[in-house]
Amino acid sequence: MYFHPYVQIKNLLLEGAEREIWVAGWVRTKRETKELAFLELNDGSCQKNLQLVVDRNEWSAVLTGVSTGASVRAKGSLRPSPAPGQKWELAVVALEVVGPADPQTYPLQKKRHSYEFLREIAHLRPRTNTFSALARVRNTLAFSIHEFFQNHGYVWVNTPLITASDAEGAGQMFRVTTLDVEKPPRTPEGQVDWSKDFFGKEAHLTVSGQLNGETFATSLGAIYTFGPTFRAENSNTTRHLAEFWMVEPETAWLDLAGNMDLAEDFLKFLVTKILEKNIEELTFFDQWVEKGLLETLNSVAYGNFSKITYTQAVAELQKSKKDFEYPVTWGNDLQSEHERYLTDEVYKGPVIVTNYPKEIKAFYMKLNGDGKTVKAMDVLVPRLGEIIGGSEREERLDVLEDRMNELKMPLESYSWYLDLRRFGSVPHSGFGLGFERLLQYVTGMGNIRDVIPFPRTVGSADF
Ligand code: 4AD
Ligand code: MG
Repeated sequence: MYFHPYVQIKNLLLEGAEREIWVAGWVRTKRETKELAFLELNDGSCQKNLQLVVDRNEWSAVLTGVSTGASVRAKGSLRPSPAPGQKWELAVVALEVVGPADPQTYPLQKKRHSYEFLREIAHLRPRTNTFSALARVRNTLAFSIHEFFQNHGYVWVNTPLITASDAEGAGQMFRVTTLDVEKPPRTPEGQVDWSKDFFGKEAHLTVSGQLNGETFATSLGAIYTFGPTFRAENSNTTRHLAEFWMVEPETAWLDLAGNMDLAEDFLKFLVTKILEKNIEELTFFDQWVEKGLLETLNSVAYGNFSKITYTQAVAELQKSKKDFEYPVTWGNDLQSEHERYLTDEVYKGPVIVTNYPKEIKAFYMKLNGDGKTVKAMDVLVPRLGEIIGGSEREERLDVLEDRMNELKMPLESYSWYLDLRRFGSVPHSGFGLGFERLLQYVTGMGNIRDVIPFPRTVGSADF
């Protein structure tokens, strides 16, 4: 039977029973009085440290090796702490430094470090309060995503990361090749001969699992994907990564209204779960990162999302006296300044915008009766703008083919996708939630580079 090598501090503090026990972790701080040394020990299992109370005379030799960042093991009895600040403490009877950390060179000293600096030491930043809290919230969200869809009878489908199709038709893909970039094979016309490449054709990293997801939704009924996706967007912003995680449910027989309900219930469920399981972390973020975060999360969990059409959004924006950098005209995509005006100032909460002009949305979205707009939906949230993009899908073969021809897409290479409309076609809908954008939203973190363990962005793929 498996047990952790050491009781996790989280459980120790939860149980709080007076007993003698071994603990292990990393020292956050050391404070000394004449007789005693107080070590704050963190083992990563929770936000709280365990205070170790050590007799200075007895342990002076070992204590000289104890500094911020050192790993230690200690034995002692857990007892109620007489001092304010913690309920329990460990009266140490044995202490051992396992791995010292030289105070001259260990980069994480007891002070606030900037996020920029911590990005340069991404291998050590999970040892800070902020980044260990982020890892635990991220973990709860990932688990709860599965929980939500499993509760609703959805099947998790693993779609490929290497693909020959561009799911969004936006041409922002990373090439996957084993050809010699110096001397690629050429066709008689002098073009690169991709038929000689590893897959016998051009291949890329996927921007979305949706198209493959649709094949399973139109056979299993309700599915979701959850995995990494890649975009070679040259956007150096606080909301864009080149490698990010996406959750994409796809549901047969579901219309746009149902898809909106699914997105709303899904987000509310996730927020409720972290409020239940990560209140310590969220309280920390509320205090240090984004004041009012807990209030916002509660209002998201228990309030209703506003719902407007793109046309209404444009009217709302035009009516405002705001001096936007990008002018607002019907037909142009909403910029993040527009999205944020709607969420932060007009509706003061999440907003679902529907029925965008077809020209600014992907080829697979279902055309409305007006011939101009599609059954698209974007979920916008305060501070960030879009965190979900989705739609009802075009299930009519002729309408879809017309649209793809308009966009000059090579129909042959999408013939498998069109087969879903040729044989037993059904109305269906889905959406994609950007996992890191969600994390930014629920923690208040300003930069998306800080909510993924090792960010990949334009000009940067360290660690
Ligand atoms: O709106 P997008 O491009 O939609 C799709 O990919 C659809 N195939 C989804 C679907 O209907 N199944 O992307 C979905 C979400 C965005 O709303 C955003 O939250 C996130 O993915 N996203 C990014 N997150 C981080 N970095 C980037 N570069 C992102 N691009 C999109
Ligand atoms: Mg989008």
